[in-house]
Amino acid sequence: MIYQIYPRSFRDLNGDGIGDLAGITSELGHLAELGVDAVWLSPFYRSPQRDAGYDVSDYCDVDPLFGTLADFDAMMIRTQELGLRVIVDLVPNHCSDQHAAFQAALAAAPNSAERSMFIFRDGRGESGDLPPNNWESHFGGPAWTRTTDADGQPGQWYLHLFDSSQPDFDWDNPAVHAEFERVLRFWLDRGIAGFRVDVAHALVKAPGLPDWHGLANGNSSEGYPGEEAPMFGQPALHDIYRSWRLILAEYGPDRILCAEANVDPLPRLAHWVRPDEMHQAFNFPYLHAGLDLGPLRSVITESLESLDAVGAPSTWVLSNHDVVRHATRFGYDGHGPRDGDGIGTEDPQPDEELGRTRAAAATMFMLGLPGGAYLYQGEELGLPDGIDIPSALRQDPTFARTDGERLGRDGCRVPLPWRADQEHYGFGDGATPWLPQPESFARLSRDLQASSGTSHLALYRSMLALRRELDLGRGSLQWAEAWCTGSSLAYLNGNVLVVMNLNHEPLELPSGAILLRSSLDVQGNQRLLSPGQTAWLQIAAKPAE
Ligand code: NOJ
Ligand code: CA
Repeated sequence: MIYQIYPRSFRDLNGDGIGDLAGITSELGHLAELGVDAVWLSPFYRSPQRDAGYDVSDYCDVDPLFGTLADFDAMMIRTQELGLRVIVDLVPNHCSDQHAAFQAALAAAPNSAERSMFIFRDGRGESGDLPPNNWESHFGGPAWTRTTDADGQPGQWYLHLFDSSQPDFDWDNPAVHAEFERVLRFWLDRGIAGFRVDVAHALVKAPGLPDWHGLANGNSSEGYPGEEAPMFGQPALHDIYRSWRLILAEYGPDRILCAEANVDPLPRLAHWVRPDEMHQAFNFPYLHAGLDLGPLRSVITESLESLDAVGAPSTWVLSNHDVVRHATRFGYDGHGPRDGDGIGTEDPQPDEELGRTRAAAATMFMLGLPGGAYLYQGEELGLPDGIDIPSALRQDPTFARTDGERLGRDGCRVPLPWRADQEHYGFGDGATPWLPQPESFARLSRDLQASSGTSHLALYRSMLALRRELDLGRGSLQWAEAWCTGSSLAYLNGNVLVVMNLNHEPLELPSGAILLRSSLDVQGNQRLLSPGQTAWLQIAAKPAE
């Protein structure tokens, strides 16, 4: 089980209002206690922070905001003491416009070696004042920005699938490959266990950069890129990951690559995790299925079938720094907000308690599944998204690039509450945190939950301990049809029966020892599973179908 740390919101030790590496080191003991195997750190590299560090200006240094390389090494030592492994984020699709290579490209002439590290093109139209194609940025607006030449005249355009401050590298250029091999080795030499690869599906673009007549930012109407999207899922990507796998193997058999690959359908995602490619790929179709039991069941079946076919585990995930936290998403009846859109005070509001209850059930359902799982910092506390965030404080480029129409992802990035009675709930004792913390954090802080036997945190600890003890990650799945009713869903993993009840009525549990239920505070009849809850039972034999 891998736990995602979002450094700027984890713990601020030097009191500047932004989390830092020393802050991570100081609290790692809590993660070991929680029962995580490894941590994945979102970017902490040198960066102007235009996209919260996913705009890297130096891949081999720590941004002063987060500390120094020495702080990184100190963190590594602490993780080793605690038996935790560290995965870092690799951002190979684009860098920051402040990266030395991009600055050199801007200063150089068209068709120069410097420009060929990126995707520069002449514009369309008589005076080249139209973008080279119709692609759009994921954060809104065109995916191209025009440069200005030294003489002040408009020049070529460069491609950026994200913010204009994030120019895309040209992965047709071997020099780009060489540079990233250097980056891989730099961090592997520092003892890391692997990489989470940012937008792993986007590095290679179709020859000729043709216009795209699906959604021009590469998405399909279902939210995933279609098979044909010219900016996603190109076949040549796979050779890149094969070569990286060989580099990782030089450092031992246990280093991993995990793809952030937003591709569908699932059999196509399986291409990312063939035996000689990446080890894991986030299962976003699972995240998007939410609590719709029909789609959820199909996604799980299809995931296991597709991934079994290539001998890879599925990688389940419900929350991360790009989506509304699942404790908030599940506080809506019907569909909550769209990915990357966030919730504001003007939007329909979630029911916090309902969301937290269902989030516990959903996580428990997920952690019973065979395969790997990722948790996002704060979900063990049942944290909701921050909703009351003044426009002036919103930092996600999506907000500015859509003139506020899409609020963006700041809500799920609010700094963590550690200690209820300390300033900023113990996130840091200096400057105000970079995003405001909701008042509910007073009740949800880690110290309060750690001293309660029935808290969300207590549940996470029990789930993770049992998952490890029963080795559920390496198990298998068989649907338990008798409890798949349309409003409940159940499967067997070995002799553990996992039942989730989304009906409005309690569900009578089958015989068998109840190992754990998603509400630790059970009143009344123990054999009834309340609405919005999940239970794990140990059963003697396969239940009747
Ligand atoms: C995916 C990352 O998770 C997201 O936070 C980032 O904005 C984009 N990739 C661009 O790097
Ligand atoms: Ca700090």
